[in-house]
Amino acid sequence: MTNGRPTILFVDDEQSILKALRRLFLDEEYELHFAGSGAEGLIILQNEPIDLVVSDVRMPEMDGIEFLTRVKELYPPIARILLSGYAEKSSVVKALAEGCAQQVLAKPWDAEELKEVIHDALKQLGQQKPNGEPMQTLINSLAHLPPLPRIYHELRECLADRDNFTIDHVVKIVAGDAATSADLLRWANSALFGQRGKVDSVKRAILLLGTDVVESLVLSMAIGGSVGALTKGFDHKGLQKHAMGCAIVARLLAQDQTDAGPELADHAFIAGLLHDIGVLAGAGIFPEAYVRVGQLAESGQLLLAEAEFEVLHTTHQEIGAILADWWTLPKFIASAIRWHLAPENATEDKKVVELVALANVLSCEFGLGVSGNHRDPVVPEDLRVRYGLTPERIEELREKASKAI
Ligand SMILES: [Fe+2]
Repeated sequence: MTNGRPTILFVDDEQSILKALRRLFLDEEYELHFAGSGAEGLIILQNEPIDLVVSDVRMPEMDGIEFLTRVKELYPPIARILLSGYAEKSSVVKALAEGCAQQVLAKPWDAEELKEVIHDALKQLGQQKPNGEPMQTLINSLAHLPPLPRIYHELRECLADRDNFTIDHVVKIVAGDAATSADLLRWANSALFGQRGKVDSVKRAILLLGTDVVESLVLSMAIGGSVGALTKGFDHKGLQKHAMGCAIVARLLAQDQTDAGPELADHAFIAGLLHDIGVLAGAGIFPEAYVRVGQLAESGQLLLAEAEFEVLHTTHQEIGAILADWWTLPKFIASAIRWHLAPENATEDKKVVELVALANVLSCEFGLGVSGNHRDPVVPEDLRVRYGLTPERIEELREKASKAI
C-alpha cells in the first residue's frame, strides 16, 4: 500500500503490453509499477511495498512461473496472478496446481474480467483476520495442500475451453481412471438422477449428469484422495459421506422449487457436495490443530466451526471459501461454502445457500455420514417453514436420501 492505495506490479517483456495495461488502469485508484523482466520485477519488489503482482508467462531468461514462484517464496503475503497465452496452457495448469499463482487469466485479456479479478484479489487481501494475520498467509498455507490428481486438472483444462471441448475428450479423460468412471456410473444410475440402472457407459453417464456435476464429483473425490491421508484421526470417509448426503438432500429440496430454473438442482447438488471442503483442507494443512478442534467439538458444547475458531482463529467456511476462490470455482459454490451455517448473511446466490444450509442440517439429522459436529447445527425455523419442511416431508426426504447414498 502507498498512501492507502493498493500497489500493483505488472511484469511483461513486451513494452506494448505494459503500455496497454497502463492505459487500462489509468483511472483506477491504484499505484502502478511496471517491469520488463522477472529480474527487474524482483528489484522493484525489494524497494516498493507491492500488494499484487501480475506476470506474463512467456518471457526470456526467467519465465513467469519461475518469477511468481520466487515471489511466493520471498514475499508470501503478495497476491499473484498469471497472464497466459493459449500455447502455455499445460505448463500453467501444473503451475497453478503447485500454487505459484492464485489466478490465471487468458491473453489477450478481457478488460472487464481483468479489472474484476484484480479488484477481487485486492479486496480479499484487505480482509484482515481477527488476530491480525493477513488473509494471504492463510491462502499460502492452502498452497501447501498436496497437488490434486492429474485427472482433475486435465478435466478442468478441457472444460475451460467452453466453446470447443467435445464429450469424447471428456470421456477419454474420465475413462482413464477406473475409480472415477465407476463412481460416475453409480451416480448416473441412482434414482436421484432419474435413470435407475439404465446407464451402461461412461459417455452416457457424463451426458446425463452434465459436465458441471461431473467436474464437482471429480473434484470432491480428488480432495478426499489427496488430503484424506494427511488428516490425523479425522474421519475423512465419514465426512465425504456427509457431503454426499448433503448434496443428495439439497438436490431433492431443489427439485421441489418449481419456480426455479433447471440448473438449480445441479447447483444445489454441486454446492452440497463441496460445502465442507474447508474441513478436509483445514484438517490436512493443520493436522495437529485439528486434533484439538476434534476434542473441543467432541464435548458437544461447541459446533465444529466454533471449535475451529477457538483453536485456529478461522473456520472451515472461511478456509473452504478461500479455496473455492483459489481454484476459481463458480461463485455460487464459494457463497454456499461461506454461508451454509448462516444463510441469512448471504447476499448472492441466496437460494443455493439456503438449500445447502437446510440440507446440511437435515443430513446431520438423518445420520448420513459424519459432519464433525457432536451437536446438530440448526437453521432458522422460518427457513424450514418457507421450504415446506413438514414432518411428513422430512420423513419422505429421509427415506429417499438414505436410498440414494
Ligand atoms: Fe456440513
